[in-house]
Formats: sequence, C-alpha cells, structure tokens
Amino acid sequence: MTSSRTYDVVLYGATGFVGRQTVAYFAAHAQGLRWALAGRNRAKLEAVRADAGPKAAGAGIVVADAADEPALAALAQGTRVVLSTAGPFALYGSALVAACVASRTHYVDITGETPWVRDLIDRHHTQAARDGTRIIPCCGFDSVPSDLGAWLVRQPFQEMGVPCVRVKACFSLRGGFNGGTLASALNMLDAGQTRLMADPYLLNPPAARPAAGPEDADPMVPHHDVDFQAWLGPFFMGPVNTRVVRRSAALLNYGPDFHYQEFLRFGAGALAAVTAAGVSAGMSASQAALQLAPVRALARRLAPAPGEGPSEGSMNRGSFRCELVGLGAGGEIVRARVADRGDPGNRATTKMVCEAALALAGKADSLPGGARWGGVLTPASGLGEVLVERLRTAGMTLTVQG
Ligand SMILES: NC(=O)c1ccc[n+]([C@@H]2O[C@H](COP(=O)([O-])OP(=O)(O)OC[C@H]3O[C@@H](n4cnc5c(N)ncnc54)[C@H](OP(=O)(O)O)[C@@H]3O)[C@@H](O)[C@H]2O)c1
Repeated sequence: MTSSRTYDVVLYGATGFVGRQTVAYFAAHAQGLRWALAGRNRAKLEAVRADAGPKAAGAGIVVADAADEPALAALAQGTRVVLSTAGPFALYGSALVAACVASRTHYVDITGETPWVRDLIDRHHTQAARDGTRIIPCCGFDSVPSDLGAWLVRQPFQEMGVPCVRVKACFSLRGGFNGGTLASALNMLDAGQTRLMADPYLLNPPAARPAAGPEDADPMVPHHDVDFQAWLGPFFMGPVNTRVVRRSAALLNYGPDFHYQEFLRFGAGALAAVTAAGVSAGMSASQAALQLAPVRALARRLAPAPGEGPSEGSMNRGSFRCELVGLGAGGEIVRARVADRGDPGNRATTKMVCEAALALAGKADSLPGGARWGGVLTPASGLGEVLVERLRTAGMTLTVQG
C-alpha cells in the first residue's frame, strides 16, 4: 500500500442510482483526498461529475467495463481504496475484486448478495489475509446497522467478562426501493441460489461453522417478544444480515454460545399482531411466487428499472431504527440502538459505504487488527470502532446501554 498511487479512493459504479449519491457525498466530505469516478461510460461519468458541482470538479475519471480485466487492473493499481456500487455484484463485481486483491487495494461495497460473498471468501480470503488487504462487502444498510449493532452490544459483556449468548435486533424503517436492488435479488433467484441463501452459516469460515440449531433458522412467523414488548415478524434483510453478523462472530471470536437473530417490528397491541401476521404471510407468498421464472419476468416489467429509485423527497422522508438487546450467560441485559434519518437503501447506505471507504483511506494502524490485518472481512471485523466513530460524527445514532 503506497501513497504513490494516483488516487486515495475510486468510486466504481459512479453513474448508478446509489453511485451518483456517493459522488455527491465525496464532493461534500472528502476534501483533501484524491478521488475519482469510475465506470464503463466516460461521457456519463463526466456528466455525473458536472452535476455534482464545483467541489467535484477536481475528481478524476477512470473508464473500465466490469469485464475488461486490463482496465480493472490499471484502476486497482492506481488507487489505495475502491468503493463499488456497481451491482448486481455477481455480474459486475468479481473481476474488480480480483484486481483489488492482486494489487493489494482495499475494497468496500454495498452488496447483499450472500452467495457472491461466499464465492469471494473462497477465492480471495487467504491471499487478502496474507497481504493485509481489506476486502469488505456489505457496507450498506445491509449489513452495517446489524453488524455494528451486535458488535456494540457485545462490548459491555467483554468488559464484564461475561459471555454474550444471544443478540436480537428488531428493525423499523421507512424507505423506497431501487431498480438495482430488485435486479440483484432477481439475479440471485435466476441463478438458483435459494438453497445457498438459506444456509444460516453461509459466510462462516469452514473451521468455525457451528451446527445450525432452531434459534439460527430464519423466522417465518410473527411472535410477541418480551424484551422488545412488541410483535416481531420476519425481516426481509435478515437472511443477509444474520450471515454477516455470524461471520463477524467467528472472525472476532464472540464465543461458542453466541447466537444472533433479527426481525421486523410491528408494535404492540392487537392491530400490530394482525398486521404482523398479514405481512409475514404476504412475504412468504411473494418469496414462493418469485421462485417461478414467469413471476420474475413480470416483476422486472412492473418494478423500477436499474438506474431508477425513489424521489428526492421520498428519500429525505425515509428513516430506520435498529434496536438490539443482548443477553448474557448470567441473565445480564445490554441494549443498543442504531438509527438515522433518510431512506435506508440510499441516504443511509451512501453515508455508511462512503464513511467505510474514508476509514480505509485514513490511518491503517488505527483499524481493527492493525495495518497488517486483512481478508474478506465484515464491517465490524474490518472497520469496527473507527467506522462507529465516523458514523457518529456524520450524525448517525449508535448508542449502547450496559
Ligand atoms: N446495501 C444496501 O442497502 C443497498 C442499497 C441500495 C442498492 N444496493 C445494491 O447496490 C447495487 C447498485 O444499486 P443501484 O440502485 O445504484 O443500481 P443501478 O442504478 O442500476 O446502478 C448500477 C451501476 O452498475 C453499472 N454497470 C452496469 N453494467 C456495468 C458494466 N458492464 N461495467 C461497469 N459498470 C456497469 C451501471 O453503469 P451504467 O450507468 O453505465 O449503466 C451503474 O453505474 C445493487 O446491487 C443493489 O442491490 C444495496
């Protein structure tokens, strides 16, 4: 890792719906850094840079199609950090990550495609760990709140010297859907990856794969939870976030009895119970229907196309709140909260992934594990306290009550 590289951070996928927001974020928050917009189309990249105003005028442009290996190698060799928002990542991400690993360039993205992340681990973890290269997928709404939230809950238990045996999280959110997100979900279903996605320990290192018990199964039906005093049901991001938190638990050694699960919050009372039952049944039915190719074709026709997403007004009105409760081996309880205003899949995702990239561009020896730690990591294991502090400074709530 040398500072003789042309750029500190390259934003790959800068012309996409989230990519354009990362450019605006860097224009506002990356003073003093050398950064560039990257993608497959120079004219489009130049238009995005111009739209971002005078603070983006000094940013470079790098052209590299996702299938152009020599161009991706040059891109990765020319920067210290790559931030990618070009998805579906299974289609546009593999050669870029390979180029980053080959040139010891740190990498973050916003994928939620767990089978693709499993493939990255199998291909690159050993070399990235040996070289001290941090490859950190899942740095957006999936899975930063869950992963940093569980990591925060665990801190007081460590200080008390008590094993944390269970962390539960429940989400409340308001936001829209991007065409790119739907394209990524449908691409995983097209590839027949449903069985892989259902593995609760899909992302664990082979040597740290506990036998999955009933508490690890993805929830299917609602229940009333005494710790949250609310009706909780299946959360559609749970099958992504739980796998990431379980990888963190293995990499950071949360202990052999640690379990993590998460839910969508419906509130208290009879109406919440009925809503939870209706939404959970609807979710199961739509998941089953989307297994059928004609239903996926229909979804592609009706939903926003790649490149589209919610309006500015709708993104500004969005919000999310992730409440967590941790239970100790002796009955101790720790609570935490991660929350922010703005559409979770856009405003919060942009803040999280940009701050993750800025953390990697900062002092390497302040990151977890020190300057030589690497591998295919998670937000908690690759960025930990540094990302927590950066997000707090950027206005996100991350609190813990022991
Ligand atoms: N973690 C989260 O919470 C979260 C939130 C939102 C989105 N996401 C994920 O992020 C990804 C992007 O979402 P989005 O809404 O921004 O999608 P999008 O608007 O469709 O953007 C896709 C990007 O990929 C680029 N691309 C397509 N084909 C390419 C190729 N052959 N070579 C290089 N670049 C190529 C596009 O470039 P062109 O402009 O040239 O077509 C565009 O920049 C999706 O996978 C989505 O699931 C995650």
